[in-house]
Amino acid sequence: MTDRPRLPDLPGDADGLLKLAARSMFDVFARTAMGMMVVDREHRVVWISEGYKSFLPALGFESESQFVGKRVEDVVPNTLMAQVIESGRPILVDLLTNKAGTFLVSRLPLRDDAGRVIGALGLVLMDHPETTMQPLMAKFTRLQGELDAARRQLAEQRRPKYTIASFIGASAAALEVKRQARRVALTDSTVLLQGETGTGKELLAQAIHAAGARAAQPFVGINIAAVPESLLEAEFFGVAPGAFTGADRKPRDGKFRVADRGTLFLDEIGDMPLALQSKLLRVLQEREVEPLGSNKVEPVDVRVIAASSRDLAAMVAAGTFRADLYYRLNVLPIALPPLRARRDDIEALAEVLLEDIARRAGLPVRSLAPDALEVLLAHDWPGNIRELRNVLEQAVLMHDELLLHAAQLPRLGAAPAAAPAAAGGPRPLPDQLADVERQAIAAALKATGGNRVAAAKMLKMSRAALYDRLARYPDLQRES
Ligand SMILES: Nc1ncnc2c1ncn2[C@@H]1O[C@H](COP(=O)(O)OP(=O)(O)OP(=O)(O)O)[C@@H](O)[C@H]1O
Ligand SMILES: [Mg+2]
Repeated sequence: MTDRPRLPDLPGDADGLLKLAARSMFDVFARTAMGMMVVDREHRVVWISEGYKSFLPALGFESESQFVGKRVEDVVPNTLMAQVIESGRPILVDLLTNKAGTFLVSRLPLRDDAGRVIGALGLVLMDHPETTMQPLMAKFTRLQGELDAARRQLAEQRRPKYTIASFIGASAAALEVKRQARRVALTDSTVLLQGETGTGKELLAQAIHAAGARAAQPFVGINIAAVPESLLEAEFFGVAPGAFTGADRKPRDGKFRVADRGTLFLDEIGDMPLALQSKLLRVLQEREVEPLGSNKVEPVDVRVIAASSRDLAAMVAAGTFRADLYYRLNVLPIALPPLRARRDDIEALAEVLLEDIARRAGLPVRSLAPDALEVLLAHDWPGNIRELRNVLEQAVLMHDELLLHAAQLPRLGAAPAAAPAAAGGPRPLPDQLADVERQAIAAALKATGGNRVAAAKMLKMSRAALYDRLARYPDLQRES
C-alpha cells in the first residue's frame, strides 16, 4: 500500500468555497470560450481576451487599439451588452448575429461589493453554432416546420369553403334563400334545409355556419345515408373506453363531441332509422349525449343544421319519420328551389362553375356560345346544380375550344350515363349494366314509395351503395 500524497482540502467556510467556485468558473470560461470582453459602466470596452482578437478583422478593425476604449454598441453590431448593464440582468445564452457571423454568446453583469452594476462580461462560447449545434438546430427546424404545417392544415380544414355569397343566383327564388340564410345565421336554432339533390344544401349549411357566431369553431358533417345503419349510433354519440358493445369497436368521440361549440350538419336526415330518431330527439332536447357503453352523459354545445332531399312531411304522414323530431328540426326551415324553377340563374351559375372547373383543372376558362346556353336553358335538370356542374365539366375535359357550342355538350336526357350506341354493334357492356342497375333501382323505389332503406333491403344492397348509385344517376332521385 502506497500512501497517496495528501491533497489540500476544500476550504472549510462558505465564503471560501464560493470564491473558489467563482475563480474556477472564470478559469474554465476563459479557457474554453473563444473570446471574452469586459465593458465598463459607460459601455466602453476595457479589455478583450487573446481569443477575442481573432474576431477583430471580421468586425472591421485592424488592431486592438482601434477597438478597446470604444462604446461596445459602436464596435459590435447587435450587441446586447448595454442592455445587461442597464438592467443588471444576465443573458445566459443567446445567439448573436452580425457581419462577423453567428455566435453563441453569454453576457453577465459585473457588480461591486455594494451590489451596483459597474460593467459587464461578454463571452463568445462558440462560433458557427449553426454547424456545431447542427443536430440540435436541425431537429428544432424540423419540428418547427411540422408544427407550422399542422397549424396550416388545421386552419385550412376549419375554414368554411363557402359564404352566403357563394350561393350564386339573382332570381327572386335565390334571393329569398339567401335572405333566409342570413337571418338564420344570426340565431342559434336548429335549421332544416329541404331541397332536391344538388340544389346546394351542403353549400348553404356551410355558408350559414360561416356567417354565424360559431364560425371559428368546427363545422362537422355526417351523411346519414352513407353510414351503415349498425354504425350510426357510434358515429353520432361515440364509444366509451372499455365499452363492450358486441362488436369490435375502439373508443372514440362521436360527431356530437367533435362538433362541440361548432355546427353539426346532419345530411339526409330522412334516412335515419326510427330507433335512432328518438335518441337524436333526446339529444336535441337535453343537450347531452351518452356514448355507447358509458353510463355517464356528457353535455354538448352544438348548433344543428339538418338537410333532406326527401319530403319529411310526407314521411311523417306515412309513419316513417317521427313527428316530434320533425317539429323539433323544422324550427327554421329553408326550402331550396330546384334549378328548373330558377332558370334565370342558369347563365350566371354556368359562368361561375366554368371558372371553378378551369381553376381546379388548371385549364383556361371557357365560355358558352348562345346555342349551348339555349340547350342548358331547355333542359329539365333533375340533378340540379350538381348535374349542371357535371355537364360543364365533361364538356371542358373533352374539348379544347374556348367557346363551347351545343355540339360539345354531353347529351342531355333521361340517362346521362349512357353513351350513344356504336353504329350497328352492341353498346359497351358497362353502359348496358348501368342501364339494368338504374331500372332495378327505379323499380324498387317505386315499389317502396321512395323509401330508400326498404328499397336497399329489397335489392339486397347496402344503403351506402344505394346512395352512391343515386348520386350517380340523379334522375332516380325523383323516384325517392
Ligand atoms: N347556388 C349555388 N351556387 C353555386 N354553386 C352551387 C349552388 N348550389 C349548388 N352548387 C354546387 O352544386 C354542387 C352540389 O351542391 P351541394 O352538394 O351543396 O348540394 P346538395 O343539395 O347537398 O345535394 P345532395 O342532396 O345530392 O347532397 C356543389 O358543387 C355546389 O358547389
Ligand atoms: Mg349534400
